[in-house]
Amino acid sequence: MIRIMEPGPLQLGVLASGRGSNFDAICDAIDKGQLQAEIKILISDKNGAPVLQKAANRGIKTLFVNPQDFTGREDYERLLVEKLHEARVNIIALAGYMRLVGPIFLQAYANRILNIHPALLPSFTGLHAQRQAVEYGVKFSGCTVHIVDQGMDSGPIVMQAVVPVYDDDDEESLSERILEQEHNIYWRALQLFAQGRVYLSQRRVIIKQIATETITKSSVV
Ligand code: GAR
Repeated sequence: MIRIMEPGPLQLGVLASGRGSNFDAICDAIDKGQLQAEIKILISDKNGAPVLQKAANRGIKTLFVNPQDFTGREDYERLLVEKLHEARVNIIALAGYMRLVGPIFLQAYANRILNIHPALLPSFTGLHAQRQAVEYGVKFSGCTVHIVDQGMDSGPIVMQAVVPVYDDDDEESLSERILEQEHNIYWRALQLFAQGRVYLSQRRVIIKQIATETITKSSVV
């Protein structure tokens, strides 16, 4: 069993492609003192993505990197890793980053890249997870925070939240219900890393309890 991180405030890098509501929820948790972290940089692969403006408004360093400017994924990721190292990032949160992560990235931040996916993995991987859930007819879906590995949405699971699927749901209404829970669990999962409580045993994530005497008001979530 390996401990992924020692306790301490996270030096977070966030990668996002779009709207940025998960990014906002993480920022809010930091501002409220619920998550011990500092966002060192927000990187987007989409020019003009709303998340870039959201980060800039909060005074967070932003960077747009166009993958099409590179001959291949490896060169693109090398540049990303360079920028993340420069910003002294020690853990990465993918927050609506619609791109598969390759070996360069995975080696540089082994077990320290997290993703949030809008389904109860291992069900409904990939795009349009909420639509897949509605069309399949499951009665419950939800969201998953997981450690990123070489597969698609296949890495070790850190935290999940369950939401009901109603008969009259469509992709939009289910997405909304799931998103609320995404905002609720992503920062909580990150805080477990800040507390040094996350261990990996094969592909199982084990969350250690905090010893009673070390529990302080600010460490209780
Ligand atoms: C979220 O629902 C997130 O789970 C999903 O994209 C949305 C981003 O929203 N991610 C994936 O589907 C990754 N496979 P946001 O930009 O408002 O955080």
